[in-house]
Amino acid sequence: MKKEQETNEWHVEKYTRHAGFVSALGMPVVDLLAPEEDEKILDLGCGEGTLALEIAKSGAEVVGVDLSEEMAEIAREKGVDAFVASVTDLPFCEEFDAVFSNAVLHWVKESRTAVKNIAGSLKKGGRFVAEFGGEGNVAHIVEAMQEVFTMHPEYGTFEAMWYFPGDKAYTKLLEEEGFRVEYAELIPRPTPIDDIANWLMVFTNGVTEHLNKEEIKIFRHEVREILKPKLYSEKEGWMADYVRIRVKAVKT
Ligand code: BEZ
Repeated sequence: MKKEQETNEWHVEKYTRHAGFVSALGMPVVDLLAPEEDEKILDLGCGEGTLALEIAKSGAEVVGVDLSEEMAEIAREKGVDAFVASVTDLPFCEEFDAVFSNAVLHWVKESRTAVKNIAGSLKKGGRFVAEFGGEGNVAHIVEAMQEVFTMHPEYGTFEAMWYFPGDKAYTKLLEEEGFRVEYAELIPRPTPIDDIANWLMVFTNGVTEHLNKEEIKIFRHEVREILKPKLYSEKEGWMADYVRIRVKAVKT
């Protein structure tokens, strides 16, 4: 999985250690894709290639792209035909039977450009199957980050860097860009994570990249304190308040 901000590189080792759940929870999206032998399928934001390899078990030919050279390299080492490309600038022309994407498109604020690129990569009649953060995703976490920024005016303005559309808004966008939407649903999916401090370390570099080390430490500590009563329980540990949008659409 990758993100779009060049200045906000993944820490691959930390990502692998603390965010392995991202691919593990992507299997229902592979099921919705229902890949078939001899199909040519693009995995957008393939990360370290776990789901690309799952898709390839069907006998489909899978091409993976990721914004991170390090991630693409790991995927290649596992045998995935992966290379670096941005969702907003794909080098393909009507060559895929399907485009698949898990846990990536919420990083792409230029959503229309992304959808245009996906449509341009698909053959007519090809399908787009994706899941990513939808409306209401990580609402408590975003609110807590905002609260800490408000408590520390010296941190500057908090900028949420994600795109979390509702099902209706995303359906409209897909239709406007030449898709027939077969399925679009918002799915609340509280997600077990090891610790919110690790989640913040892996996923919010872009929010804190202008802060110094000490400020980042305080930021993570205070966000954690605010979230503990909301997202932590003795019984279940930490649960991130994820809401996914899952879609299947066909290029007309
Ligand atoms: C998500 O997968 O929903 C997500 C990941 C990082 C930041 C925000 C949301």
